[in-house]
Amino acid sequence: MVTPFFCWTLFLFLVSLQQPTPALTQAAPIQADAARQVNPFKPTPESLAHAKKIYGYDCALCHGENGNGKGDAVADMKLKMKDYTDPTALEGLTDGELFYIIRHGKGLMPAEEEARAKPEDVWNMVVLVRSFSKK
Ligand code: HEC
Repeated sequence: MVTPFFCWTLFLFLVSLQQPTPALTQAAPIQADAARQVNPFKPTPESLAHAKKIYGYDCALCHGENGNGKGDAVADMKLKMKDYTDPTALEGLTDGELFYIIRHGKGLMPAEEEARAKPEDVWNMVVLVRSFSKK
């Protein structure tokens, strides 16, 4: 016999299945389709200069003005930074992955909110970050 109590218990059980597990969602790897994204914007000198300005405000404190990973906050936060002036530093990452990390943050790196950087700005920061290794 199906009692109301049984129905209620089943309902609570099903609701509990809907809750995302924080540990899993946080450590979720970058989705393959996000990693395959390519820059839909054509950088112009103006748009790159704008991205560089945002980088100066939001990124240089950790990544360094020239991308060497020696920003002012690094020692205090005990961060382990890559040196983007080394051409091998970003070799293993696609543009889509860089975009994703900048937009969503990773580990101790905060996310760059939409209100601070439009998609075009974030793509131009991908271009900028890659350009640090070019002489
Ligand atoms: C609080 C310090 C901090 C700030 C601010 C910060 N980052 Fe990072 N960033 C990190 C750290 C630490 C990592 C490595 C994360 C990991 O792998 O756990 C990282 C990773 C990255 C990566 C992936 C490649 C790599 O080095 O592992 C890119 C690209 C990147 N940051 C770009 C940016 C941009 C662009 C901004 C500004 C919008 C920014 N970051 C702001 C600390 C920071």
